[in-house]
Amino acid sequence: MSADAISPDDSFFDIGGHSIIAQTMLLKVRKQWRTTNLPMTAVFQSPTLRGFAAEIDRATDPLGLRMDVAGNVEPAVGQDEDYSADAQELANQLPKSFTAANVDGSDKQTVFLTGATGFLGAYILADLLSRPSTAKVIAHVRATDSNAGLARIEDTCKAYGTWDPSWRSRVECVTGDLASPRLGLKPDVWDRLTNEVDIVIHNGAVVHWVRPYSFMRAANVLSTVAAVNLCATGKPKRIGFVSSTAVLDTEHYVQLSDRIEADGGRGIPESDDLEGSRKGLGTGYGQSKWASEFILREAGKRGLKGAMIRPGYVTGDPRSGSKSYTSLPLLSAS
Ligand SMILES: NC(=O)c1ccc[n+]([C@@H]2O[C@H](COP(=O)([O-])OP(=O)(O)OC[C@H]3O[C@@H](n4cnc5c(N)ncnc54)[C@H](OP(=O)(O)O)[C@@H]3O)[C@@H](O)[C@H]2O)c1
Repeated sequence: MSADAISPDDSFFDIGGHSIIAQTMLLKVRKQWRTTNLPMTAVFQSPTLRGFAAEIDRATDPLGLRMDVAGNVEPAVGQDEDYSADAQELANQLPKSFTAANVDGSDKQTVFLTGATGFLGAYILADLLSRPSTAKVIAHVRATDSNAGLARIEDTCKAYGTWDPSWRSRVECVTGDLASPRLGLKPDVWDRLTNEVDIVIHNGAVVHWVRPYSFMRAANVLSTVAAVNLCATGKPKRIGFVSSTAVLDTEHYVQLSDRIEADGGRGIPESDDLEGSRKGLGTGYGQSKWASEFILREAGKRGLKGAMIRPGYVTGDPRSGSKSYTSLPLLSAS
């Protein structure tokens, strides 16, 4: 596309831009205007040529003294969306109480798993199905129907070398979309799951380091509310939530972990309530995980049992080299 064909209000992403081109563009901007250091989020928050030009103007003239740019500058979009207030509001709407699930270890469990077609999900699925205590895994998948969903799971697991044909009788797919109400499940499927499932493992999420909170809110945060509501209805259930160490990405936790290490300890305690990152998380992704954890902690106070897991880096499997393998350094139960 020639430069002349781009209008001031075209979105960078609609005309083929993506995060790698954005990196190159930011580098060029920095070379051209040496005092600027625009973050990647500026491209997502102001994706039009007009909006992005205003970002450059703001960066080169932070006090707003230049008369020639004053008329062009659009108000800055909030860098730090109020994720904690949103989480509080959503938590206020949670069921008042949850019946604790009795676990004596002898019963076989039916597990509902989201995100089984992802890097980590394929390994969670393999782990679950290797356990004699798992009767069946019901996987939530984006697909046209359950057969197509199962085919997607099979393809993913084959790609990672984890697929075992014997799983076919122990894996059921239900189709949905995390960003839709009740996870996009059909009403009869939702009702059946409320009475059939023993454990919900909410692993699926939009994993994106530059998109804002508002972009991920439905798929990452509202889906957590839906997963909690699934636990509140019908058979008592436990929940496992796959979070991220991105919830600790504030100066407070850097300093806290330094102090803990200086005292001979290791890591942020599981009992920490994440108040140290109620404000100041820089990524929409980390914010969406913070909001989800907050909601789950509130549900925990009302009786829901489960665990939150914050994986470290998801990298190659130590045996096969194929993605993904993860160490799970932090487990906080509520
Ligand atoms: N990757 C890491 O380094 C890392 C580190 C810490 C924590 N985590 C957490 O681990 C979990 C899994 O991450 P991953 O690396 O495996 O990510 P991934 O490969 O991108 O997988 C994400 C999964 O979520 C599903 N998903 C996303 N949006 C959905 C929607 N609207 N409706 C239905 N399903 C949707 C995807 O389905 P499709 O296949 O249909 O897209 C996919 O199965 C996430 O909760 C993430 O936050 C990851």
